[in-house]
Amino acid sequence: MKIIMLGAPGAGKGTQAKMIAEKYSIPHVSTGDIFRANIKNGTELGKQAKEYMDAGKLVPDELTVKILLDRVAQDDCAGGYVLDGFPRTIPQAQVLEDALNKLGDKIDYAINVDVPDENIVRRMSGRRACLKCGATYHIEHIPPKQEGICDTCGSELVLRDDDKPETVLNRLKVYHEQTQPLIDFYTERNVLKTVDGTRDMKDVFNDIIAILG
Ligand code: AP5
Ligand code: MG
Repeated sequence: MKIIMLGAPGAGKGTQAKMIAEKYSIPHVSTGDIFRANIKNGTELGKQAKEYMDAGKLVPDELTVKILLDRVAQDDCAGGYVLDGFPRTIPQAQVLEDALNKLGDKIDYAINVDVPDENIVRRMSGRRACLKCGATYHIEHIPPKQEGICDTCGSELVLRDDDKPETVLNRLKVYHEQTQPLIDFYTERNVLKTVDGTRDMKDVFNDIIAILG
């Protein structure tokens, strides 16, 4: 099963993708997590990506597409995957579609996690992320057992550099301009499913399971 998560920054794509990956035993592939791991490890890619991410802009397609195609070509993705944060532009969606077409394959579901802008800014300031294993918490809704420490791997939790309110507003603007058109793109391909992302994360997940079967 090949699944794409769509939705504004902070809609809960990562939270839901992790649960989907676990339930269906498929890899969770997040371009944001790949970039953050590269920034943490000080790679050349990380240096290039950081500049764009800190400004709330998209990393250019030239850098993003190759990384994603290399990742989904790995053995563990042969039985499917859940993509979180990719595609984010029509050209990225087109490249992915062409690559899958060549393999006689296609995306099965594009899950749109719908959350209005006004809820987003509130959510982001409370988010805490583990840069080591990618786990995400929220200081009010989903707190870690021990403050500031990841339940899964014991690393320190941080407020992401791009979760400052002014950067969040810019990310929302970029989302509406460049990523929202993907809703039409996947509607035309008959794979778009929208869920109400404002509810409790377990309720959102139940809606998604009902769609995926
Ligand atoms: P990325 O890491 O993908 O960030 P994003 O799209 O901005 O999304 P987020 O990770 O911020 O939010 P999310 O939807 O995953 O929400 P989460 O589950 O964490 O990308 C970061 C940057 O990298 C981009 O800005 C760009 O520069 C670059 N980039 C990445 N991919 C790219 C690409 N393909 N092309 C170009 N550039 C790219 O949830 C948010 C918070 O809410 C958490 O605290 C969570 O605990 C909480 N929460 C989740 N669900 C609920 C709920 N139901 N109720 C209450 N709280 C909830
Ligand atoms: Mg995420």
